[in-house]
Amino acid sequence: MDYSDMVVLVTGANRGLGSAFVSALAELGAKHVYASARHPEGPQSSRITPVPLDVTDRTQVAALAQSLPDVTMVINNAGIHRRASLFDADVVDIVDVVSRTNLLGTLAVSAAFAPVITANGGGVIANVLSAGSWLAGPGNLAYATSKAAALSLTNNMRAELNPRGVQVTAIHAGFIDTDMMATFPGPKLSPRAVADAALAAIAAGSQEVLVDGMSQKAKSASALAVARFAD
Ligand SMILES: NC(=O)c1ccc[n+]([C@@H]2O[C@H](COP(=O)([O-])OP(=O)(O)OC[C@H]3O[C@@H](n4cnc5c(N)ncnc54)[C@H](OP(=O)(O)O)[C@@H]3O)[C@@H](O)[C@H]2O)c1
Repeated sequence: MDYSDMVVLVTGANRGLGSAFVSALAELGAKHVYASARHPEGPQSSRITPVPLDVTDRTQVAALAQSLPDVTMVINNAGIHRRASLFDADVVDIVDVVSRTNLLGTLAVSAAFAPVITANGGGVIANVLSAGSWLAGPGNLAYATSKAAALSLTNNMRAELNPRGVQVTAIHAGFIDTDMMATFPGPKLSPRAVADAALAAIAAGSQEVLVDGMSQKAKSASALAVARFAD
């Protein structure tokens, strides 16, 4: 796959990993990049067009798909993290809010743009997931639940879209140095390194990208747990 043939929509493109994807795609010579955000303010050029998109607004998602018939690749990057515990009085509300973006936003954008991509002869949908798709931890209930469900969504999308010529790539990483993890003191990946690794793997045809050791370990630990359960 050559990015010079690809017209790419990135969600949550105004900061963090989304902004890194836009810069990396521009440097790779992508044919065009639609940098979508709730309040688009990012760079504009002959190859980058900022467009407004709140992934939880289904009317806006559908209208954008109508207005961008040239898209061949979507990067579902928009995401939120909210701390939640089973003992929070509003835990259901927190999981609801997080899932509306991380799960249902990804679903809405994918469902709206899959017909566009297939009409253009196929392409790519890449979902930014997380090592948290497989991990549990204090405070992580809402985020991890939404990413685990988004992983299942990604697998089910692949089953339907691969036969239609659409590569569906899950991107997993551990801690990335963005606003989302601003208070986390430990070592973090640079957003640009994650974007570069993911885009290289996508171009090579990978449908699962485990960017770092943390996501690799999270996936294999989960597999071991499942194996023990099966015994
Ligand atoms: N940081 C990490 O350690 C880490 C690790 C693994 C995976 N991830 C995933 O990487 C992705 C990007 O996160 P990040 O680390 O770059 O976090 P971030 O700096 O907090 O950026 C989140 C982005 O998502 C956008 N967004 C949130 N809700 C949205 C909505 N309803 N509609 C459209 N855009 C929305 C934000 O836009 P606004 O500016 O409008 O809020 C922002 O652009 C997320 O899916 C996240 O789960 C992050």
